[in-house]
Amino acid sequence: MKKDFISILDINEPELEQLLSEAHELKRQKRAGTTHLLLAGKTLAMIFEKSSTRTHISFEVGMNELGGHALFLNARDMQIRRGEEIRDTARAASRYVSGMMIRAYKHSTIEEYAKYATIPVINGLSDLEHPCQLLADIMTMQEHFGSTDELRVAWVGDGNNVCNSLILSTVLTGLDVTVATPKGYEPAADLVAKARALGGKVALVQDPETAVKDAQVIVTDTWISMGDEGEKEERTNVFRNYTVDSDLMKLASPDARVLHCLPAHRGEEITDEVMEGGQSLVWDEAENRLHAQKALLVRMLKK
Ligand code: CP
Ligand code: NVA
Repeated sequence: MKKDFISILDINEPELEQLLSEAHELKRQKRAGTTHLLLAGKTLAMIFEKSSTRTHISFEVGMNELGGHALFLNARDMQIRRGEEIRDTARAASRYVSGMMIRAYKHSTIEEYAKYATIPVINGLSDLEHPCQLLADIMTMQEHFGSTDELRVAWVGDGNNVCNSLILSTVLTGLDVTVATPKGYEPAADLVAKARALGGKVALVQDPETAVKDAQVIVTDTWISMGDEGEKEERTNVFRNYTVDSDLMKLASPDARVLHCLPAHRGEEITDEVMEGGQSLVWDEAENRLHAQKALLVRMLKK
């Protein structure tokens, strides 16, 4: 595996397959109470520029369950805030800890940490990608459908960080993804082109009904990502016809399931009825963050 995990395409197909098979095994071990302390003595520094519930908890609990330690660092409390350079922070931290997980506003911030850190750096969400979320989402689809090959996936809503990573993941998974966004809110064009050039199946449409028709997995996320709060009014208006509700679900395959990375905004991108209904896999998806990231940490930090 590469030193860092910043994009979902930092792993290749066989590596992903092996990592997720380890994740399923770690899930079984946790259920059986037989988890091995594979990361005893290791410390993960977790730097957060933005809020988090799942990423923070799952990485911290994951390190703990593997016998290691996780160090929570709010970027506001670090010398970075007073002007210390990333390259200096990255090199100093590399002398203390075994790996870093970073949640940042700008993707380039995480890339700069990775450039100067001599230890592995993991993207815990940037404006461009959320690769750890995709590990959990692919694991959840494998669990439910057996395989992701040719699975028909519809993304409904904003072409954001999670959507970008989903699009890139088509290269590794055989997922057939159709993205429905309003005009002007499409996923990153260069990432769509990259996925297609590498054989990924990606279609872009504007109409949610077109995307969802016969889809087996419906994925959505907030209309207002962290950093987009200033556009709240405009976005709420632009996205008003992009709610995943039970009428939209009727167009999907009868065995369709729903994913949402959370946090959810009921009544906006998803209704309470769909979130709480029998087609929702959101709690398995949230749980799988833990197992998938434990497998990632073992691969990246165990020497
Ligand atoms: N899905 C996700 O990353 O959740 P948090 O923002 O709570 O970490
Ligand atoms: N797209 C959302 C994901 C939150 C986990 C955001 O970036 O805020």
